[in-house]
Formats: sequence, structure tokens, C-alpha cells
Amino acid sequence: MHDPITSLITKLSTEHRLSAEGYAQLLTTEDPAVQDALITAAVAVRKAQFGNGIFLRGLIELTNYCKNNCYYCGIRRDNKDVMRYRMSHQAVLDCCQMGAELGFRTFVLQGGEDPYWNDARLCALITDIKARFPQCAVTVSLGERSEESYRALRDAGADRYLLRHETADSQHYAMLHPPEMSLANRMRCLRTLKSLGYQTGCGMMVGSPYQTIEHLVKDLQWIEALQPETVGIGPFLPHHATPFAAFPAGSAAMTLRLLSIVRLMLPTVLLPATTALGTLLPDGLEQGILAGANVIMPNLTPNTERCNYQLYDGKCTAAKDTLSVLRDRTLRFAAIGYETVHQRGDAPSFLKP
Ligand code: 5AD
Repeated sequence: MHDPITSLITKLSTEHRLSAEGYAQLLTTEDPAVQDALITAAVAVRKAQFGNGIFLRGLIELTNYCKNNCYYCGIRRDNKDVMRYRMSHQAVLDCCQMGAELGFRTFVLQGGEDPYWNDARLCALITDIKARFPQCAVTVSLGERSEESYRALRDAGADRYLLRHETADSQHYAMLHPPEMSLANRMRCLRTLKSLGYQTGCGMMVGSPYQTIEHLVKDLQWIEALQPETVGIGPFLPHHATPFAAFPAGSAAMTLRLLSIVRLMLPTVLLPATTALGTLLPDGLEQGILAGANVIMPNLTPNTERCNYQLYDGKCTAAKDTLSVLRDRTLRFAAIGYETVHQRGDAPSFLKP
């Protein structure tokens, strides 16, 4: 194949960047052969970098209180139907204990922007987790905070931070968020996290309301500029009690295509097959892996809290214990030729020589 789109894939594989038009063409072509070629190239890069291993991240959703009011999110401040909860310090440690016994080497402390989790409480929690599980990485995913706060958490031992940029177009950002939030601030936070030495993750929803191809091109250009260690990409899924309840879900095919493009752009990126993709498609996690993803984030949140952390409809799956979820996933991934591994899974550039 020597058509123009195939040469775009080759160019992205070798130069790791494309023009805006190049990205737009890759995102819009309907030729299934192109999709196949993109996936083949992405999987080759993923295998060269990481073999057939899939890294595990244990997700602990420690609070569903949120001071923000994002139009897409089920735990937004104005949703009064949510039963709010906060896990205790001890409950989080117990979760880590259980996770460590099951072979998890990364814990992701995720939650809404909850003022209760101030620096003192969070630093104490991170310090305790690192003291008890020194072989484990701690990832924080608790939204926008000050530079001082990010520094304090880093000093307490946090290794990584996930903060999706959601969309890299400021007008689109303003259509997804209330006026007190801004893309400029989000980007400032991400640059700060990078400069503080966090392994940093950004990312976006695919098919969020009002999103255009131009917006996705901007997302790719922003990722290209930031050079994050992780990129979280999942489809938008509506939540019934939000202003976006009536919008359709994002496209799985577009999500997969973006995963492959990001794999080619950043060969060593840690790319999760996201829960949202696994919610949209019964075999979404497998399809994500087969498009170039190399991370999954099983949920370690206790069952009593889990269903109250409903960012979108369908997120809460019937409570199965983590061990059987892991066994089930291991089998499903083995069936497509991949293997879940019990390593920390740091970004290669952060590994000590
Ligand atoms: N659909 C898909 N993803 C969502 N998120 C929040 N609400 C939704 C939704 N309705 C994502 C956002 C956020 C992450 C924690 O979850 O990208 O950053």
C-alpha cells in the first residue's frame, strides 16, 4: 500500500508527529484498511517497547465529594441524588493491603475535588502508603491543586499524577465546564506537575458534546507538546442526572483510533484501556489492548462505596471480588495473547539505569 494515508502512518511511526491536516486525515478516513494499518503499526510499537505485558493499576476512589460542576460528570456538585462518601485513612490503607497481596504495585488515589483531602491529610496518607508498601508507586488523581500542594504531595512520596485536560480547545472546554474553570488553569497544572518530576498523565473524552475533529487534532497537538508519560482516553458516556444526559455516547472506533495514534506518537507511553471503553463495549478492554494500550486499572474501591462513584451511567458493575475480576481479566487477555504483569510499570524514562 502506498496511498497517501499509509504514508501518513509511516511518517507518524518514524517522526512521531504530523501536521494538523495529517492528524485530521488519519482521524476521518473511512477506509477499513487504514484502520487495520494503523492498528498493526501501533501494536508493533507497543510489542517492541513492552512485549505482551499489561501493567495493573489499582484504583481507589477515595471520595466522591466534588466542589466542581462539570456538565458531563455524574458526581458534579449539583447532583443531589448522589450519596456522598469519603473513605477513611485506614480504609484506604486496607485497600492497598488487599491490592498488594493480589500483586498490585501501583495505587491510584482518585476522587472528586474534595477540600477535606487537604495537603496535611493527603500527605499523611501518601507517607503511610509508601512506608508500608515501599515497592509500590502512588499515583494521585484529585484534580486541580496549587503548585505548593503538588510539591507537598510529591515530597510525601507521590510518584505520578493523572489530570485529564478533557479538551485542548478553550472554547470547547468552556462548553463542558462552568465559567469558574478554564483550560488555561488545567494546562498550567499539567505543566507544573511535569516540572515537579511527576510521571504525568493527561487525556480527553472522545465524543464529548460539541466535540469536532478539529478539537481532537488540538488534543493530539497538545499531547505532542506536553509529552506526558500517560494518556487517558475514553469515550464520553452520558449520565442521567447531568446537563448532558441526552447526548449520545462517544464512538468506540474513534477511541481506538486515537489510542493507536497516541501509541505511534509516544512509543513508550503508558496507555490505559479505560473503564469507559470497557463499559461501552463488552470486549472494550481487549480491543483497547489490541489497538496499542498497555495498562488496565482494576477498581479496588470497596463495594459499599463503588456504586456511588458513578461518573457516567453503567460504570458500576455488579460487585465481584477483586481476585475473581483479576482472574477473569487474566484469562481474557491470555486469550488474545497478552499477560498481566506484576511490576510497577514506570514510564521507561523514569526507570533508574
Ligand atoms: N463520560 C466519560 N468519562 C467521564 N469522565 C467524567 N465524566 C465522564 C463521562 N460522563 C472522565 C473525565 C475525568 C475522568 C476521571 O473521568 O475525563 O477526567
